[in-house]
Amino acid sequence: MSFHVIQQAPARLNRSELAVPGSAPQMFEKAAQSDVDVIFLDLEDAVAPDDKAQARKNIIKALNEIDWGRKTMSVRINGLDTHYMYRDVVDVVEQAGERLDLIMIPKVGTASDVYAVDMLVTQIEDAKGYTKRIGFEHIIETALGMQNVSEIAAASKRNESLHFGVADYAASTRARTTIIGGVNPDYSVLTDTLEDGSRAVHWGDMWHYALARMVVAARANGLRPVDGPFGDFSDPDGYRAAAKRAAVLGCEGKWAIHPSQIALANEVMSPSEAEVTRARRILEAMEQAAAEGKGAVSLDGRLIDYASIRQAEVLVEKARQIAG
Ligand code: GLV
Ligand code: MG
Repeated sequence: MSFHVIQQAPARLNRSELAVPGSAPQMFEKAAQSDVDVIFLDLEDAVAPDDKAQARKNIIKALNEIDWGRKTMSVRINGLDTHYMYRDVVDVVEQAGERLDLIMIPKVGTASDVYAVDMLVTQIEDAKGYTKRIGFEHIIETALGMQNVSEIAAASKRNESLHFGVADYAASTRARTTIIGGVNPDYSVLTDTLEDGSRAVHWGDMWHYALARMVVAARANGLRPVDGPFGDFSDPDGYRAAAKRAAVLGCEGKWAIHPSQIALANEVMSPSEAEVTRARRILEAMEQAAAEGKGAVSLDGRLIDYASIRQAEVLVEKARQIAG
């Protein structure tokens, strides 16, 4: 390990994160009753400009009055380039800061963006005498944000998670797609001619680089990487496939833009029983190996060593957190 110790963000379950428009208070109760881990009440892109002020009021009332149980509660404020953002922060944190766990900052572009919101939130918390500190989740969804993702990830002690905002990211990079997440037939590889004379098309994942880059920046700073939206809520298989790709890369969760996606995210982002059992067997086998003075042994015909202990502990720890 490096001599540099990575401080980990507070441990929270973040397998699923439900987006709920602040302008749709009729959806709040159902969200509160759902099995989702994190809810973000939205003041940004799901809310029309004329509805922003009312949405703020709805969110403040809901945070104070609805029983959200043990769910982690977040509010997505408007971007720092809008005149809504300061009032989002001032009104929501002043009037509902005690039930707010996180603030989600969209389209974050530089470490200074984080600094600015941190300064504002700190002043409000101190003035109100809050003892609990509100955490930050950042949506990496612009070319600038992706360029500066490492500095953003390190910019505040409040930082907890990075989210890949695929829709805005596509717009910002001028990617040739109008769907939210998912794959694109134009991002494919055409094989050479095969033995039977045909040529095969292998679809690729056009978001791979961006997501992988964000995961590294998050993990190098002790934050949770979370995959963003999958717009086609009538395609559970497509959602599951996207969530699995994200999980394999190291993401801890994925957004749900529809309640039907909550169970899918929880399922994919929880290690399966078979994975946890194998992880426990690795730990046992390595304990045995250590007792015998060995550093590496074989389990089921495969090599395992001290790195396997660290891999297995990730899975066992996650299972413990879910059970907890
Ligand atoms: C989320 O905000 C996105 O733009 O995908
Ligand atoms: Mg966005």
